[in-house]
Order: sequence, then structure tokens, then C-alpha cells
Amino acid sequence: MSAVPQELLDDVPRKADEAPPPRHVAVIMDGNGRWAASRFLPRVAGHREGARALRRTIDAAMRNGVEWLTIYAFSSENWRRPAGEVMDLTGLLRHYLKNEIAELRTNGVRLRFIGDRDRFDADIRDDLVVAEQTTAMNSRLNLTVALSYGARDEIAAAARTLAERVRAGTLDPASIDEAMLASALWTRDIPDPDLVIRTSGEQRLSNFLLWQAAYAELVFLDVLWPDFGPSHFAAALAEYARRERRFGARPD
Ligand code: FPP
Repeated sequence: MSAVPQELLDDVPRKADEAPPPRHVAVIMDGNGRWAASRFLPRVAGHREGARALRRTIDAAMRNGVEWLTIYAFSSENWRRPAGEVMDLTGLLRHYLKNEIAELRTNGVRLRFIGDRDRFDADIRDDLVVAEQTTAMNSRLNLTVALSYGARDEIAAAARTLAERVRAGTLDPASIDEAMLASALWTRDIPDPDLVIRTSGEQRLSNFLLWQAAYAELVFLDVLWPDFGPSHFAAALAEYARRERRFGARPD
């Protein structure tokens, strides 16, 4: 990743009448395979180009004053892809963790990972811990990477945690409410997303943040992820600003 000059990362000044940006943007980065196929390239070329689009998106989030960015990098279902593609994706992850964390740390990015990290090799698991620990003092952008993530897995794990507390006699089932279940999810330290963006024209959540996105605005863009850039990010933010968020209440 090339060094990003500090002045480019400073928040864009906002006019008083401008709507504030979404505090938390979550992104389903879809279309790497189709991007590669349309160029007669192997799928890994699409994933590599996708990693470049991810760098651009991190910069765009910081420049637009977004505080939280969550990306769907590897779903629990992705393990079912052919072994070669799984190796390519985990190889890219290794590369990212070894070579790019230092720059994210310098730029004020705090990293977190959500998902079933036990399915990754030990060296990757160790690097995930190091990346979280060495960026823990940062607060400019909270970047959460969903890896081996599935929302249904996450909710089932939270249910197991609470059930174990009931069995141990430390929790009364009648006291289980939304807040308690949310506090047992992998995202317990993370605010709910305000905006979920999905690229490639597909219009579904694909097991991403199902609980947390209950009131998120959904924006589907017709661009393949490797082609995603600052103008697409700005367009999604502009669409979000046009939406009226009522959280189930009636308008005044
Ligand atoms: C979806 O495209 C994308 C993925 C499964 C992986 C996303 C990964 C990156 C953007 C690269 C960065 C990766 C890491 C691990 C840091 P697809 O392959 O499902 O595309 P298709 O629907 O066109 O086949």
C-alpha cells in the first residue's frame, strides 16, 4: 500500500447543513471472480485487484469522516470453494497481515477481526492477534475484517454462551433481552452499521451482520468490487444521505 499523505486523510470539512456521514459503513465486496473472468484472467487476479480496491476504500472512509468500516473478506461458506482458491485467499490474507499492518497502524487504523478464527492455520491466527494488539491504541478508523464469518454461526455461538450461563445457574432465562444477546455477539464492542454497501449488482446480505443490520440502509451498486473506488463510495454516502431513517417510528 502506498503511503497516504496526512492532508488527504484529514476529514473533508462539512457545511453545517450537510447530513453527517454514516458512522459505520459495512461492505460486501462482491464480483472479484466476474471481474477476472471478463478479462480471461484467473480468479486470484480478481482477488488481488480486490485487495487494491480495499485499500482505496479504507482511504475513502477516512477522508469522508466514517469512524467504523467493516468488510466481508471471507465468509464461513467460502471454505467450500475449490482448495486452490481457498489457498489463494488465505495467501492474500497472510500477505496483507505481514506487509500492510504497519502502514494501517501509522495511519491511525484500529483493526479487529470477527468470525471463527480457529479454522485458520496457527501462523495466521497469531498474526491476527498481533494486528489487533499493535493497533489497539488507534482510533481514527475502526476497521473490522469479517473472516470465516457467518451471521448465523455468530448468533448460534451467542445462544450457546447464554445457555451455558443458564446451565451454570448464573443467568435467569427471563432476563435475556436484545441487549444481552447483542453483548454475546462477536461484534459486542462495535456499533451497528448505518449503511451496508454491496457491489456487483447482487441484492442480498449473504449471512453478513444479520442481527446488526436490522435498521441499516442497504445500497446495492452495479460495479464489480475490483473497480470500486472513491467515487462509488461517495455515491453510496450520497444515497444514504437521501434516505430518511425512522427506525420503525412514524415521521413527524
Ligand atoms: C467476492 O468475490 C469476494 C471474496 C470472496 C473475497 C474478498 C477478498 C478481497 C477483496 C481481497 C482481500 C482479501 C483479504 C483476505 C484481505 P467473488 O469471488 O465471490 O466474485 P464472483 O461473485 O464474481 O465470483
